[in-house]
Amino acid sequence: MTAAPRTPAAPARPAPPAPPVLTLSGVGHVYRDGHRARTVLQHVDLDFERGVFYSVVGPSGSGKTTLLSLASGLDSPTRGTIRFDGRDLADLGLGRYRNRHAATIFQQYNLLTYLTAVQNVTTAMEITGARPATGSRRSRALELLERVGIDREAARSRVLRLSGGQQQRVAIARALACDVDILFADEPTGSLDEETAAGIVAIFKELAHEQNRCVVVVTHNQALAAESDRVLTLRRGRVSTTRRR
Ligand SMILES: Nc1ncnc2c1ncn2[C@@H]1O[C@H](COP(=O)(O)OP(=O)(O)OP(=O)(O)O)[C@@H](O)[C@H]1O
Ligand SMILES: [Mg+2]
Repeated sequence: MTAAPRTPAAPARPAPPAPPVLTLSGVGHVYRDGHRARTVLQHVDLDFERGVFYSVVGPSGSGKTTLLSLASGLDSPTRGTIRFDGRDLADLGLGRYRNRHAATIFQQYNLLTYLTAVQNVTTAMEITGARPATGSRRSRALELLERVGIDREAARSRVLRLSGGQQQRVAIARALACDVDILFADEPTGSLDEETAAGIVAIFKELAHEQNRCVVVVTHNQALAAESDRVLTLRRGRVSTTRRR
């Protein structure tokens, strides 16, 4: 029996690029203080993709926190549009976007200091409706706190009794507990020793590369920026992107 002639395999077509999870188009931002106006962002066009770990760098005062607060839906830009999965944030609703799709680790932590560390994490899970795949919210919160180096004793302490570095790690665990598409972090390793910071960066990489989330981290730390896939540099109100991977 002669074998039927084989039809040559069609050349594999590259998969179409996944649509960006978040798009900033012509975004500008001006702070007004009485008669004075300060333009912080001039014109920013940016696409953020799932599965990518971004760092945001730039001199102090260049607008990094401002960019994060717009992209995370805490504030609205004075010009331009921001879309999550193609939907304008203004239509989706900023509260809904923040609760369901984006979590933020703030530069000043913004923890509920009179509650314990574990209560801070479970409260965020209750507010955002995050449910662990197995076990209770409390057991998931304790697991995440342990992951960022907070032991059981510290987990049961009121936040105001914890050190700056411990508070920063509670803020990280709180953001990790919310099952979101995008994680924003503003100087998340500023108060941490090198070893703990390296552990946190490893978690960010896992979230992006293994869980296909988008991770956006503002930092002054060059070593952290060097670990990211793309570096966004803010200067004079504009952003330039360097692709590292
Ligand atoms: N709520 C506000 N009202 C008025 N001006 C503001 C406000 N927030 C920030 N600014 C101004 O906008 C500019 C950018 O501030 P932003 O906090 O975004 O900078 P940054 O790059 O995060 O700085 P840092 O590295 O020091 O954290 C600064 O000049 C700041 O004074
Ligand atoms: Mg800042």
